[in-house]
Amino acid sequence: MSESSPCRLGVLVSGSGTNLQVIIDRIESGEINAEIACVVSNKADAYALTRAAKHGIPVVVHENTRFPERRSYDSATVEILRSYKVDLVVLAGFMRILTDAMVDAFPNAIMNIHPALLPSFQGLHAQQQALDYGVRYSGCTVHFVDCGTDTGPIILQSVVPVEQDDTEETLSARIQKAEHQTFTTAIKLFVEGKIQVDGRKVRIKT
Ligand code: GAR
Repeated sequence: MSESSPCRLGVLVSGSGTNLQVIIDRIESGEINAEIACVVSNKADAYALTRAAKHGIPVVVHENTRFPERRSYDSATVEILRSYKVDLVVLAGFMRILTDAMVDAFPNAIMNIHPALLPSFQGLHAQQQALDYGVRYSGCTVHFVDCGTDTGPIILQSVVPVEQDDTEETLSARIQKAEHQTFTTAIKLFVEGKIQVDGRKVRIKT
């Protein structure tokens, strides 16, 4: 991306939006040369929408319940993102698996943050899965999205210790701190053209 045309992000959310908030803050501070073109939520009551609106970012409520199946929902999402001329799609707590309708429309340009060290603990309740398994370390993973459940090429990971008395809440809070740093670092690398994908392998240019 050139200095004059910042990378346009389309951020998809379903919930609280703490990751969205950090992305907004790092863009506003000038750390990331990007612009959030739109925030799209599949939940009308997602607090992330309030966060975006406070910063004058266009928001779209795009409820999946209005669509008969995943693919038609995703095709409509692509239309929305295209209308905002989005370069990079950022899944910031977007709790849906994508179909080829989305994945093929943005090849290697959809990033997700997952609250575990993939390929361990894919899918929902990753933090509770880690606790149940008894691992000593978990963390977060930023990866490109393919049509699987948390299976795409890994961009960055951060490790977080699991404490003896952790609950899902305490571990989630510790992981989320790491997410905020890791996700924004990955977005910055993308925006600066420093990410190269070769099959499953992601190379970070220095
Ligand atoms: C984050 O912890 C993210 O890792 C998780 O949802 C949370 C959203 O938090 N995403 C997934 O589990 C996706 N499989 P936020 O709305 O406060 O950014």
